[in-house]
Amino acid sequence: MSKLLIQGPSRLKGEIRVHGAKNSTLPLMAASLLCDSTCVLHNCPILSDVKTSEKILQHLGCRTGRSGSDVLIDPRGVEQSDIPEHLMREMRSSIVFLGAILSRMGRAELSFPGGCELGPRPIDLHLSALRKMGVTIQEDHGCLKCSAPEGLKGVQIAFSFPSVGATENVLLAACCAGGTTTITNAAREPEICDLADFLNCCGAKISGAGDSTIVIEGVKSLHGCEHEVIPDRIAAATYLAATAATGGSIILNHVVPEHLAPVLPLFEESGCRFAIHEKEIYMSAPSRLGRIKNVRTMPYPGFPTDAQAPMMAMAAVANGTSIFVENIFESRYKHVGELLRLGANIKVEGRVAVVEGVGRLSGAPVEAADLRGGAALVVAGLAAQGETLVSGVRHIDRGYECLEENLCLLGAQVKRLPD
Ligand code: EPU
Repeated sequence: MSKLLIQGPSRLKGEIRVHGAKNSTLPLMAASLLCDSTCVLHNCPILSDVKTSEKILQHLGCRTGRSGSDVLIDPRGVEQSDIPEHLMREMRSSIVFLGAILSRMGRAELSFPGGCELGPRPIDLHLSALRKMGVTIQEDHGCLKCSAPEGLKGVQIAFSFPSVGATENVLLAACCAGGTTTITNAAREPEICDLADFLNCCGAKISGAGDSTIVIEGVKSLHGCEHEVIPDRIAAATYLAATAATGGSIILNHVVPEHLAPVLPLFEESGCRFAIHEKEIYMSAPSRLGRIKNVRTMPYPGFPTDAQAPMMAMAAVANGTSIFVENIFESRYKHVGELLRLGANIKVEGRVAVVEGVGRLSGAPVEAADLRGGAALVVAGLAAQGETLVSGVRHIDRGYECLEENLCLLGAQVKRLPD
């Protein structure tokens, strides 16, 4: 397993281009299964989760190819309807393929995603919505056997929580269903809008994406199209957190500033200053950050849970006490124990973490237990005095393309040590 060796502290300074969003790319790749001709996705990041999605598509019978950041998917040869267990285990979010496989094949078989590093990962909302749409689901020894012998039908779906994955699965299942599907309390994340834009470009009839009510009129078939994946707002927030934690300045290119609206005010609260121009954000941080009073993770347009850990690493070196409340996932403080090794002062009680900023962190060996927690360790390592050796880098590689190259471009000293 490779490791990242960070020699800190460094003051990040420079300009980088933000890659395409992982959490858009995966459902878009699943969506290509609905089409009767080739799809080209531009701005696809090179990440292990994207490679796993390619393997799933190939297993199902798609031809896939990559040229730079373009991924080409030809779904005409699809004849399988299952996802092998090892691929489900590699990426628990592969559940987002369920709606698409069902729509294309009328049946699907995959293993239950089970728990993961973020705690239990129930899919009850996905399954109850699909059942309502006419899918019969048998749960058998950790395996889900799904079939829709009479086809999928449009219905009214009211979510008790605006789940991102469940909203995506219903969108995928409903595009070619018989009749109209209405989702209330739908997730409103930018990735939902990106998926709806792609599907509409393929001939679907979806309105309301980005609001909490989405209406999908079923159509007979979808054709392929070319689509550009939106920029990764969480990668952008992570680079901002790293820059803020090191008292630096950065220009982020190729971002949608509006998608970062829930996080930018917290950077401002800590003393960072912004200039925003179209797809570009300039931020400069003070040499010592102020505290962020309260960070409460919420569904979009609230503060994103995926940015909680990197922001906490930044708050660890701020002047004063910051309070974090994690409302989305049950177990998303695994980075805290590792931040303590670097000299942070953080107390966790249930969903609440109290971060007392310290003057200086000091380098130490730490281990990433999940993707965003791993990114937080990198942020902290950049601000820490001395060497930080981050292991468990495979988690970080799931979501950040060329992380160490980008950080080096910004003046950091980061090296990947091979196995
Ligand atoms: N939930 C249920 N039942 C369900 C579905 C969800 O109880 O049927 C609960 C989950 O257990 C969780 C909460 O609802 O506590 C939120 O889950 P959601 O379904 O909204 O999230 P997801 O679709 O599993 C996506 C992202 C996550 C991101 C969340 C929240 C992808 C591939 N994953 O997950 O990204 O944290 O939305 O915004 O899009 C990451 O990138 O590091 C990551 C974990």
